[in-house]
Amino acid sequence: MCKCEEKFSFDEIVERKNTDAIKIEGLKLFWNNENLIPMWVADMDFRTPDFILNSIKEKCNEGILGYPACPESWYDAIISWMKKKCNVEVSKKELVFIPGIVKGLIFSIQTMTDIGDGVMIMPPVYHPFRITINNNKRTVVNCPLIYDGNQFFIDKACFEKEIKKCRMFILCNPHNPGGRIWSREELEYIDKVCYENNVLVVSDEIHADIALPGYNCITFSSVSETAKQNSIIFRAPSKAFNMPGIMSSYAIIHNEAIRDRFKEYVSGNEFDCGHIFAYTSLVAAYNHGESWLNSMIDYIQKNVDFLEEYFREKMPDIKPVIPQASFLVFLDCKALNLSQKELNSFFADKAGLALNDGEMFGEEGIGFMRMNVGCPKEILKTALDSLYVAYSELKAEIEISESVNA
Ligand SMILES: Cc1ncc(COP(=O)(O)O)c(C=O)c1O
Repeated sequence: MCKCEEKFSFDEIVERKNTDAIKIEGLKLFWNNENLIPMWVADMDFRTPDFILNSIKEKCNEGILGYPACPESWYDAIISWMKKKCNVEVSKKELVFIPGIVKGLIFSIQTMTDIGDGVMIMPPVYHPFRITINNNKRTVVNCPLIYDGNQFFIDKACFEKEIKKCRMFILCNPHNPGGRIWSREELEYIDKVCYENNVLVVSDEIHADIALPGYNCITFSSVSETAKQNSIIFRAPSKAFNMPGIMSSYAIIHNEAIRDRFKEYVSGNEFDCGHIFAYTSLVAAYNHGESWLNSMIDYIQKNVDFLEEYFREKMPDIKPVIPQASFLVFLDCKALNLSQKELNSFFADKAGLALNDGEMFGEEGIGFMRMNVGCPKEILKTALDSLYVAYSELKAEIEISESVNA
């Protein structure tokens, strides 16, 4: 299933200590333990590809870091990437620069809804969805996903009921933390229900370019004319090319009235001015990145396969939800029968790993932990070996206490 020739190495261990990376600095801040293996925040441990680093160096070599203008090449790169990867026609006027996807979500909440309005999300889901709705004094309306023990699905009865309380629905496409790629049928369903209920769909597609082999992530606006006219799409090269610190994202808004309202706000507040490296690095990623990205995706898939087999054979009480996209794996740990506090302590204090607490994605995430496998295989193997030691000790303790109580 390899989409490419193997010509990049993702095995290199890049030292991140003393680089002010949040993934490292957060260990002390949140766990009070700098020695944990960091497998939490969603950036990867692979070296950012040379074509991006070089584009930034070339900018520096020009000698003056003055105010940048948004170049035509930025529009052209996005337009051809969307055509090539998603078979979607986008025009220049439909693109708006935004300084990060979460900020884009905030801008859309502020421009398209009023205080108190309902905004629907499908937890367990990327926690800033909930946080930004709350912080902007809108009402979070939950439509929890159904978990069947393997995968997450839309609860259609809940969706149709709860959507009536809302003006906006924030879709995570693909889903984080579940790793689900929504099918065309599911997206058409969302489109139909939202359109009929006059609810705007905001589709966060930050992970969309990392569809794993055999999957294809569909841009929400491409499923129908109503989806096109009733949506704001957010995209970025940040996750796919491991450059989230650059903050170079964009909105695709086909509908003129929605676009005018959004643009009036972002331009009026000068949020649509990219910094000097924002444009050049996106252009480098989209114009030169396809082959690197395909290799990276194959590497992630191998990590996921390795992890899946490791858990199946050695730690069957931890069950990974197999991702269809991206490098985040939601681990179903319910069979360990630990409280969420105990689960967090087990991973950090016993196994020496820093993972995201499943509960941060909503109460539906209780019993889960999220593991970032965007790292060299050696790091993943060390982490799993360490987890296995803690798991074996835990199982032995349970056996002893069961035999005492028998
Ligand atoms: C679904 C999703 N949206 C948005 C973001 C963050 O995007 P940004 O850093 O551009 O705000 C993340 C980061 O993990 C994410 O997983």
